[in-house]
Amino acid sequence: MRPLIVAGNWKMNGDGAFAADMVHALASHINQHPNRQCVLLPSFVHLSTLAELIEGTGIQLGAQNVAATEKGAFTGEVSAAMLQEVGCRYVLIGHSERRSLFHESEEQLLQKFKLAKAHNLIPVLCVGETLEDREQGITQQVIEKQLEAVLNDIALLDNALVAYEPVWAIGTGKTATPQEAQDVHAFIREKIGTYDKAIAEALPILYGGSVNASNAATLFAETDIDGGLVGGASLKIDEFVEILTCTI
Ligand code: PGA
Repeated sequence: MRPLIVAGNWKMNGDGAFAADMVHALASHINQHPNRQCVLLPSFVHLSTLAELIEGTGIQLGAQNVAATEKGAFTGEVSAAMLQEVGCRYVLIGHSERRSLFHESEEQLLQKFKLAKAHNLIPVLCVGETLEDREQGITQQVIEKQLEAVLNDIALLDNALVAYEPVWAIGTGKTATPQEAQDVHAFIREKIGTYDKAIAEALPILYGGSVNASNAATLFAETDIDGGLVGGASLKIDEFVEILTCTI
């Protein structure tokens, strides 16, 4: 059975005090839900603070991005080896903000994905269509294209995650309906299954895009939705705890 994973993407928010309060609030709940995992994705500079805070709590640590090269003269970049050293287990690859604001290409994303795997990190490949794509009826084609790079080397998806985040739902307060999300999740699993059935069955696929305490349970109840990648609501301590502990 796939675990339920609730990941908090803090983006460029949060500080040391917030990190401590969040970990304190989550710690007492995490052990009461053995098949649930909680991942916190702070900024790079807060990773080591978080790594200390989460020790012994069962909470996992992840980064929001990673360099596409191993090491060297790349001012401002952070490598997969560095993330591993500081205690990260997960790393987001190709979040829509990275794709649109920082123009990350499919080739770069594939490099990042490979480096993450090489350093024993669990990559979370983010995919999702824009509103225009959805209105044109090309959602599946867009998702398929975003998956293509890793599909050609299917073993990369062994011990990895996919996050389906419709761009029109990120930070907008508009959530995909459970059925809309389930349809895309099922499509992703089916597509991957044509390459490797076992990998597709084991792969956790998270939904992201305005997940909050009121919609989390109905989304997570869908067969192919294995948890959430939560942005805005992961900055509200009580709400994030509610999402993690929601009754499905
Ligand atoms: P949101 O962000 O929950 O604020 O929509 C989700 C994300 O960008 O991962």
